[in-house]
Amino acid sequence: MSRTLTWDGDALLVLDQTALPSAERFVRCRSAAEVAAAIRTMQVRGAPAIGAAAAYGVVLAAREAGGTERARWFTRLEAASADLLVARPTAVNLRWAVERMMAVPGRFPQASIPDLQDALLAEAHAIAEEDVRTNRAIGEHGAALIRPGERILTYCNTGSLATVDYGTALGIIRTAHTQGKRVHVYVSETRPFLQGARLTAWEVLRAGIPATLITDNAAGWLMQAGEIDRVIVGADRIAANGDTANKIGTYTLAVLARAHEIPFLVAAPLSTVDFRTPEGSAIPIEERRAEEVTHLAGIPVAPSGIPVRNPAFDVTPHHLISGIVTEAGVAIAPYIQALQDLAAARTKR
Ligand code: MRU
Repeated sequence: MSRTLTWDGDALLVLDQTALPSAERFVRCRSAAEVAAAIRTMQVRGAPAIGAAAAYGVVLAAREAGGTERARWFTRLEAASADLLVARPTAVNLRWAVERMMAVPGRFPQASIPDLQDALLAEAHAIAEEDVRTNRAIGEHGAALIRPGERILTYCNTGSLATVDYGTALGIIRTAHTQGKRVHVYVSETRPFLQGARLTAWEVLRAGIPATLITDNAAGWLMQAGEIDRVIVGADRIAANGDTANKIGTYTLAVLARAHEIPFLVAAPLSTVDFRTPEGSAIPIEERRAEEVTHLAGIPVAPSGIPVRNPAFDVTPHHLISGIVTEAGVAIAPYIQALQDLAAARTKR
């Protein structure tokens, strides 16, 4: 399978996730504005994937800015980066990647604009390649926790599509499957955008991982019936104390898992941990269009005129989380210290 994102020399190719599973088509983003639009419309989605896409958006902005005067070039780059930053507010990987890109010119105070453009492309490639290595490490750390034969519920899409490749929560399941642990995945459909039904179901079928698709509403009943051994989800932003923003409905699953004494794991790269945000209440929650709720595949399923709320994410308080699996190891409560220790260990490597 081609990667979710690929650079083809003068544009970013993005596998259009709004077309899946019916069609596999790529969108060609030739400018930073086109990358921002692909992120906003969720043609590319998932926290690590939008971070990597935004990095290439900065590359395109650096090329568009052109000119020979460095200060003016950098001002134009900052304006384009600001547009990328606001494309989606919750996943902190977007900010992490754009800030990492914007720090590049400062490392080369004497460089020409063409050399800076090359350095920015190299940094975007580094972000993309690191993402794949990070996900494989998350997969190893997480799979070590899984017993043979486990039935695992997952939510939204946290696989290759949500990252540059391999996935986070789904990466753990993928690794456990490859290790022969005979896992079975329950894929929750994930209303209203159906990332589970459309995207995770597509990925697990292609990977040959035994799986069953369920409605979101079926999760509690299956837990009560003893059919779920573990829940593993991804994250869009983890506050310093471990509170975790993820796809709307994650909190509901965490409460259900606690009520049924089922382990609830979060899997995410350390770039998803926002040490500047002390706790979950400070995480901005994106609200999306009413049509995502009132329509299914363009067909109305609610009377027109009904007021709608469509928060795209919720926050699971840290006390409901059994562990946070990162590329540097598994954090367990108290998370403030555990996450800082893992981040420090990663920096030392
Ligand atoms: O709105 P989306 O589809 O971008 O939301 C994605 C999620 O909530 C994922 O669980 C999260 O980004 C982790 S992806 C590895």
